[in-house]
Amino acid sequence: MADSAGTQSGQNGPFDVVILGGGSGGYACALRAAQLGMKVALVEKGELGGTCLHRGCIPTKALLHAAEVADSSRESEQFGVRTSFEGIDMPAVNAYKDGVVARLYKGLQGLVKSRKITFVEGMGRLVSPTAVEVDGQRYEGKYVVLATGSYAKSLPGLDIDGSQVITSDQALRLDRVPASVVVLGGGVIGCEFASVWKSFGAEVTIVEALPHLVPLEDEQSSKMLERAFRKRKIAFELGARFSGVEKTEGGVKVSLENGKTIEAELLLVAVGRGPTSQELGYEQVGVEMERGFVKVDEHCQTNVPTISAVGDLIPTLQLAHVGFGEGIMVAERLGGLEPAPIDYDGVPRVTYSEPEVASVGITESRAKEKYGDDGIETLTYDLAGNGKSQILKTAGFVKLVRQKDGPVVGIHMVGSRVGELVAEAQLIYGWEAYPDDVASLVHAHPTQTEAVGEAHLALAGKPLHAHG
Ligand code: NAI
Repeated sequence: MADSAGTQSGQNGPFDVVILGGGSGGYACALRAAQLGMKVALVEKGELGGTCLHRGCIPTKALLHAAEVADSSRESEQFGVRTSFEGIDMPAVNAYKDGVVARLYKGLQGLVKSRKITFVEGMGRLVSPTAVEVDGQRYEGKYVVLATGSYAKSLPGLDIDGSQVITSDQALRLDRVPASVVVLGGGVIGCEFASVWKSFGAEVTIVEALPHLVPLEDEQSSKMLERAFRKRKIAFELGARFSGVEKTEGGVKVSLENGKTIEAELLLVAVGRGPTSQELGYEQVGVEMERGFVKVDEHCQTNVPTISAVGDLIPTLQLAHVGFGEGIMVAERLGGLEPAPIDYDGVPRVTYSEPEVASVGITESRAKEKYGDDGIETLTYDLAGNGKSQILKTAGFVKLVRQKDGPVVGIHMVGSRVGELVAEAQLIYGWEAYPDDVASLVHAHPTQTEAVGEAHLALAGKPLHAHG
C-alpha cells in the first residue's frame, strides 16, 4: 500500500534504504538519505512524526506554554499588572495544542513528499536483512534502518486503565484539569506534567524511587528544582517506591513501600519508556538485542551489516534530537560519507518544567570519577546576580564543571527559560573551551546568556557581578 506522500506510488523497490518507523529518527534518516540521492521507502503504521510530534515533545511543550501563561496571569500583580485568573478551559488548551501539532504534521508530510520519499502506510515487519513487509507487500532495500521507537512503560502488576491510571499518552488528551494527581516517577516526564498540572490548579504529588527528582542531572540541579517545586507547593516523596494502587470512588489510592498512602483523582505512570521491538521480526532475522533494545555500534550499525537502528529503539538517550542526529548519521554513512560518531555527553538535555533544568556535558560526580576529586574545579553563578533573571523573578544558577587547568566539561543550569541557554553551553562543551576563551566574549546585556558569560569570567578568576 504505497502511497500518499510519495510520488512513486505503487513501486516496491528496490530501494537504497527501507526505513521502518517514521518518528524523529526514521524521518530524519529518510530526509537526509533522499537529500544524498538515495531512493528511500519510509514505513509508518501510525502518523508520520511519531512520539515527538504527536505524543511527546511538541504537545507537552504546548501544555507547558499554556501553563506559563496561566502562571503569568495569576502572578501578574507582582509586576504591577492587574489581571484576574479565571481558570483553564481545557478543550481550548487542547485545541491550541492540537493546532500546533496539526500545522507541524502538515509541514512534515509536505517535506517528505517534496524529497520524493516513498511513504508506505501500514504495519511493517523485518523479514530479511534487506527487506520489510507491509500488508503482504515486500519492500527490498540495499539497507534497512530500524526506527520503531518506544512506548510508555508501566510496572509489573500496575495496569494502565487509561482513565484513573494513565500514561503520558492519555495525559495529553485529558479533557479536564484533574483536582489531584499522583505522578509516579520524578524523571523528565513526571516533572514536566507535575509542573503543568500545578500551574493549571491541580494538587500534585510526585513519587520517585531514587533520592532526587530528575536523578540523571547534576545533584545540585536536582536540589534546586526540588526547592523550587517545594515553593510552588508541588509535593514529592523521594526515595519512595511504589507498592500498589487501589481504585476508589474518587480516583486512586496509591501505596508506597514506606507505608504511606496518597489519594488522588489520577495516577500518572512516568517510569520510563521501553523500546518497541517485539514481534517485528528483529530476532528472527538475527539482529542482536539487549533488554529489548537493538544493539548497535558507534555508527548505529547492528550486528547484521545491512541493518542499522536509531532513536528510542537503541540504548542511547531517548531524546528526539538524538534520534535526528542518529538518523542523519546513518543516512550519511549509507550514502558513502564518513560521519563522526555522536558524542552523547555533548547532547543538550532540557526539562521544560517551571523552572527549567538544562545541561550539557558531564555532572560533577561523573567528572570526579573521571578526573579524580582534585582533578576538577566547579563554579556556581547564582542568577540573583543576573539582571534579566531578576526582571523575570526567577531563581537558579549556572554551574560549570571544568577539568583542572583544562576545558569546561559540564554546564548545568536551573531557572525560567534556561533551556534557551543550552545552545551556547553546548558550543562551549563541544569546542572544548577554556573558561578564559568564553570570558573574553562580550555577552549582551541584559540577557540571561550573560549568566553563562559571568560564570566563565568568575571561573577564569575575574568575576564581574559576583563576589569572588
Ligand atoms: P525517566 O527514566 O526520565 O524517569 C523515570 C523515573 O521513574 C526515574 O527517575 C525512576 O527512578 C522512577 N521510577 C522508576 N520506577 C519507580 C518506582 N517503582 N517507584 C517510583 N519511581 C520509580 O523516564 P520518563 O520521565 O518516563 O521519560 C522517558 C524518556 O522520555 C526519558 O528518556 C526522557 O529523557 C524522555 N523525555 C524527554 C523530555 C525532554 O527532553 N524534555 C520530555 C519527556 C520525556
